[in-house]
Amino acid sequence: MLASRRILLGITGGIAAYKTTFLTRLLIKAGAEVRIVMTESAGHFVSPLTLATLSRHEVLSDFVREEEGATDWNNHVELGLWADLMLIAPATANTLSKMASGTCDNLLLACYMSAKCPVFFAPAMDLDMYDHPATRKAIETLQGYGHHLIPAGTGELASGLHGEGRMAEPEDIVAHLEAYLRSHAPWAGKKVLITAGPTHEPIDPVRFIGNHSSGKMGFELAREAARQGAEVTLVTGPTHLQIDQPQVSCIRVTTAREMLEKAEQAFDRADVFIGAAAVADYRPREAAPEKIKKQAGEMKLELVRNPDIIQTLAARKKDQYVVGFALETERETEHALAKLQRKGLDAIVLNSLRQPGAGFGGDTNKVSFIDKNSEITPFELKTKAEVARDILHEIHKRIAH
Ligand code: C5P
Repeated sequence: MLASRRILLGITGGIAAYKTTFLTRLLIKAGAEVRIVMTESAGHFVSPLTLATLSRHEVLSDFVREEEGATDWNNHVELGLWADLMLIAPATANTLSKMASGTCDNLLLACYMSAKCPVFFAPAMDLDMYDHPATRKAIETLQGYGHHLIPAGTGELASGLHGEGRMAEPEDIVAHLEAYLRSHAPWAGKKVLITAGPTHEPIDPVRFIGNHSSGKMGFELAREAARQGAEVTLVTGPTHLQIDQPQVSCIRVTTAREMLEKAEQAFDRADVFIGAAAVADYRPREAAPEKIKKQAGEMKLELVRNPDIIQTLAARKKDQYVVGFALETERETEHALAKLQRKGLDAIVLNSLRQPGAGFGGDTNKVSFIDKNSEITPFELKTKAEVARDILHEIHKRIAH
């Protein structure tokens, strides 16, 4: 959930600031982009150099750059707008109170007041300070602004006292952010079934009929749908690609008939089915049980039709939104629309083969999204990850209504 998210981490001056090194490391490991702003007193507890190294970005504290002769300044508005999410951890009583009252006397507070994104705060202080009515009131005020409290835990405090006020552990903070992102993700609560890759139709134990599909497009769709909160079932033909997101259940198959069987099992509970697999249209009538020996002269293979997976499933759809792919070489739009109708689809993604860099194997693709009302949305040549985002966005617009 945190992959590619821009997180603005504000660190204030409490002993719990030392935990932000672990926190930063966890966020970076989760794929987030992290920028750090800290108050001057936070610098007494944790080194900006450590945090800059971990976050791979300069850590900012002052409005004005420190380099001699610098004419620019650290732009709080830019940073506030840059962030997808702002996290203030640890949030001291002092900073909570200033946030609540709108005091803006350091860079961190200016960033906070400029931020348009969701704001999270993880208080950390001694138990009596945490329990003080002024702190309670500040927390309530901040929650009233729509900010998210990551509650302090109970345990031994730096003062030696025991009670409520310990900053939540870095793992808990990350879990909090992930849970929020998951529940607010556009595809949260949606189940998506995707077929990907080629199929291999056996001729004998060592040979098969296959194609050059890499599976990349289907895998990117699965990754992106999961990232946006969906629960994904990915049924893939033979490919070396791996996927390790917990929201993706990856089922590996070999033949078209196996792919149909597994897709059928997941179809009824799916909200959306995307057929990105390059399914072999034909298979040998029978796979020889032993390796076929070379013989003089010609050899004939008798082929029979494979089931059309997407057409079979579209025929029994209830509320599912079904999206196919089309790879056409001439009169592309016309042929894609005809395919959409013949197969009973809601939309079809047309691969433009005329464009260098599009289609099989590569990392880029150029597509048009065509829906059953003949609305055509063309896209530029993009990475398959970006194409996946575009396709999911187009589907989401249509299922949201
Ligand atoms: O008919 P054609 O192979 O061009 O159709 C492509 C679309 O149909 C893709 O979405 C592909 O995944 C799906 N398809 C299928 N089963 C087949 C053949 C194609 O699901 N046997």
